[in-house]
Amino acid sequence: MSNASTAHFQYTPTGRELDDVELLRMGLFGSPSRFEGADGPMRLCLTPEVAEQAVQADGIEITDAEGVPLAVVSIEGTAPTCVGHVGVVGTVRPLRGNSRRAFSRLYVSPSATRTVLPTETVTVPVDAALTSADLDEIRGLGRPVLFLVLTGVGTPRGLSAPGLIRATLAAAAGLADSTVYAVPLASRPTVRSDEAFRAEVVRAYAPGPEVWTPRGTGALSTEVAAVVDQDRPAGLKRGAVVFFTGLSGSGKSTIAQALCNHLIETGGRSVTLLDGDQVRRNLSSGLTFSREDREKNIERISWVAAEVARHGGLAVCCPIAPFDRTRKFARQLAEEGGAAFVLVHVSAPLDVCADRDRKGLYARAKRGEIADFTGISSPYEVPEDADLELDSAAESPRESLRRLLEFLAGQEILPESA
Ligand code: ADX
Repeated sequence: MSNASTAHFQYTPTGRELDDVELLRMGLFGSPSRFEGADGPMRLCLTPEVAEQAVQADGIEITDAEGVPLAVVSIEGTAPTCVGHVGVVGTVRPLRGNSRRAFSRLYVSPSATRTVLPTETVTVPVDAALTSADLDEIRGLGRPVLFLVLTGVGTPRGLSAPGLIRATLAAAAGLADSTVYAVPLASRPTVRSDEAFRAEVVRAYAPGPEVWTPRGTGALSTEVAAVVDQDRPAGLKRGAVVFFTGLSGSGKSTIAQALCNHLIETGGRSVTLLDGDQVRRNLSSGLTFSREDREKNIERISWVAAEVARHGGLAVCCPIAPFDRTRKFARQLAEEGGAAFVLVHVSAPLDVCADRDRKGLYARAKRGEIADFTGISSPYEVPEDADLELDSAAESPRESLRRLLEFLAGQEILPESA
C-alpha cells in the first residue's frame, strides 16, 4: 500500500461503486484487483469527459464521499458500458485511508474471517431482520455461526444498513457461539447477477463449506422487533415527502402553503416547506433555468427533503420539477431512507396558468424576454406516476386541500382527524 499521490485525478464514484472498491480493498478477489470494463461483476463507469481527464492524469484516485482517498485505479483502457458511460479497465491499488462507516470494526477482510473462525462454522448471509423461526433453526444446528450482514447499497431489505447490523447483533445475542461481521455487498442490476455475485462474496468470506440462508418467515423476537421499529418507524412516526409538481401559476405553492398552515394549526406533524421560489433564493441561488440547472435544483431539494424525512419529519416541496428523471430521483432518495413519498401533480392547464399570470412572467416569456420558460420555451413532462392529481382550474384550493388531507390520512402520513 502507498499514500495518495497528487498526480492522479480525484474522483468520487457512486455509493455502489464505493462499496465495490471497499470489497476490492479487502482483497475479495485476491491481489491485484482489477476492473474489467464491461466484464466481471464489478464496474467503474465514467462519463467520457471524466474518463478522458483520468487517462491524461495517468490514473484515478478514488475518494469516498468525505474526500478520503481509498484506492488508485490505473487506466489501461475503457469499454462501452451503459448509455453515455464507459467502463474502466485497470488495476486497483488500495491506499491506506480508512472506512468511516458506522460499525467499521465489523467490516473485516475475507481472509481474516477465514483465519479467525473454525471451519465447522455455518455462515448465515443476512439481508433482512432475522425471524424467531430462523433463529430457532440456527440454534438447532448446534454449530458456531457467522452472521454476514450484507450492508451495501440496495441490499438490506426493510432496514437501513446500520439498522440491519443492530438487528443482527440483537438476534445474535441470544445464541451461544456466534460472530457478526458486515460486508458492503451492493445489489446487482438483475436477479440472476445479484444471486451469482452474492454467492461468490459469501463463499469468499465463509470459514467453512456450510452456508445457511434464512427463510425470513414468521414473526420477529421482541428484541429484534424493537430495533426494526426504531430504525423504520411505521405510521405517523415514519418520515414523508409530499412533492408537488406543476407549471408556474398552477397553484402548487397555494396548496402546499395551505397544507403547512393546516399542520401548524393542528400541530399534527412538524413540517419543512421547500417552496420553488424560496429555494431559488437560498439553496439554489445562482442557478439558471437551463435543463441542467433545473435538474441540479431538484436534486438539491430532493436531498434536503430526504434528510428531513429520514429523521421522521414531513417535507413539503413545490418546485415546477418539469423532468420525470429528477422527480423519480426524489422518490428514490426518500424511499431509500425509509420515508413515504407522495407525488402530487397540480394539473391546471397551461392556458389557465398563462391567463392567471400572477407574476406577469408568461407575458414576458411570450415576448421572448425570459428564456427557457416552462410551458412556453421549455418542456414540462406530465407525470405518469403521480399519486394524486389536483386541478386548480376545476376545484377550489379548499377542496384541493380537503382531498389532499384525505389522501395523506389514507397513506397514514397524517392522522384521520387532522
Ligand atoms: S424548476 O424548474 O427548477 O423546478 P422552480 O420551481 O425552482 O423551477 O422555479 C420556478 C419559479 O421561478 C417560477 O414559479 C417562476 O416564478 C420563476 N421563474 C423565473 N424564470 C423562470 C423560467 N424560465 N421558467 C420557469 N419559472 C421561472
